Amino acid sequence: MVKTAKLVIDGRSYELPIVTGSEGEMAIDISGLRKNTGLITLDPGYANTGSCESNITFMDGEKGILRYRGIPVEQLAEHSTFVETAYLLINDELPTRKDLTRFSVMLNDHSLVHEDMRAFFENFPKRAHPMGILSSMVNALRAFYPELRERTDEEEINITFARLLSKVRTLAAMSYKISLGHKVVYPSHKLSYCANFLNMMFDSPVRPYIIDQELVKALEVFWILHADHEQNCSTAAVRLVGSARVNLYAAISAGISALWGPLHGGANQAVVEMLKGISDSGGDPAPFLSRARDKNDPFRLMGFGHRVYKTYDPRARIMKKTCNKILKTLKRKDPLLDVAWRLEEAAVKDPYFIDHNLYPNVDFYSGIVLRAIGIPLDMFTVMFAIGRLPGWISQWKESIEDPKWKLHRPRQIYLGSREKNYIPIEDRGKDPTSKPRS
Ligand code: CMC
Repeated sequence: MVKTAKLVIDGRSYELPIVTGSEGEMAIDISGLRKNTGLITLDPGYANTGSCESNITFMDGEKGILRYRGIPVEQLAEHSTFVETAYLLINDELPTRKDLTRFSVMLNDHSLVHEDMRAFFENFPKRAHPMGILSSMVNALRAFYPELRERTDEEEINITFARLLSKVRTLAAMSYKISLGHKVVYPSHKLSYCANFLNMMFDSPVRPYIIDQELVKALEVFWILHADHEQNCSTAAVRLVGSARVNLYAAISAGISALWGPLHGGANQAVVEMLKGISDSGGDPAPFLSRARDKNDPFRLMGFGHRVYKTYDPRARIMKKTCNKILKTLKRKDPLLDVAWRLEEAAVKDPYFIDHNLYPNVDFYSGIVLRAIGIPLDMFTVMFAIGRLPGWISQWKESIEDPKWKLHRPRQIYLGSREKNYIPIEDRGKDPTSKPRS
């Protein structure tokens, strides 16, 4: 039986269909609401609004579940690679060995960046944030790689996906090398996607980089955990900008800009800055917790809380394990890890954090993993962006293939002035009741 919800407005009742997802979650379909009632819904921040139906990622924020195409993220983090997970997200199935080889060859073939793009890097101010540079460079990719008219749409789309997945990684490593004034290291066909990135970042003619498989595995896990997260702010930006039918590079560039914010992907950098702040002030988390509780203080505990998860973020659990494992294998200590443990221990016992369901999110431990790998702090959010690419790409692909797809154009409730007349500049600021001089 089709379930419906009943809405009564001024004594008149309307039936609204209820849509049920494959995991039993339900939504009231209001797509005919304005046409039938003249009313719209108001939902600032869209916390109660489903913007689409999707087959890609399932999250249960109450139970702490995250699955890509049905597969728990825990299993992918343990057994898969980032490239295989990207294939899964984009193509809705795990690749056969042949598919995976073909996909990897495509990523390798498209990994070089047009040499003329180097001039852009060289002309950004030295202090420019890498996220600003990355979003500009991704937009610029369209100028260097315009439409492939001689290809079918499907071929062109697949090549664009491969370009984005492999060139963004090359661009990120290039920007780091150029910022140091060092020679750029090119991608190598002999290395895997993750090993290639580490080599492009850290190899040097005077100090060859020795690839450590533990670090490669940690990076695989980091990127798998970031690969998709359904309708988060940056993905919603990609879908919204993409709904105007712009090219994919422009839509992804919008996603990168959204991700930059400290409430979203920028939190991984902010967490490490906060942990350093706690460490520099003596290591006691209590004053930071009390600031986070204070309504008059804009400070928030970075790496805590999530719009959807009202329990421990499953990604944070895996990240915490990876963090402990990598530091143990490298026989390294990171004083920030002790600070993070102490902070987490105090926060999860704190009534404010318990009442507000605030638990560590993915960003809480990810910065310590990135530090162990050797990634500089201002590139942390770039690392998140590379990881989120398969999600942005698959969500964009799903959106343009959706027969119900529409231009994203929300409405509003207007609270400004009612209609009033234009006042010539010489009459402004005068008492409206005073009579004009004759
Ligand atoms: N520290 C202190 N208080 C918090 C925090 C925090 N980190 N997060 C939420 N709150 C409080 C907030 O003050 C509010 O309190 P009250 O109801 O008493 O006024 C309540 O919790 C609800 O907050 P909200 O901002 O309405 O909730 P939201 O769902 O919009 O926030 C969030 C989600 C992620 C923006 C928020 O938790 C936050 O700012 N966290 C810190 C930044 C962060 O770690 N972001 C990374 C998110 S995970 C990576 C990703 O997917 O982007």
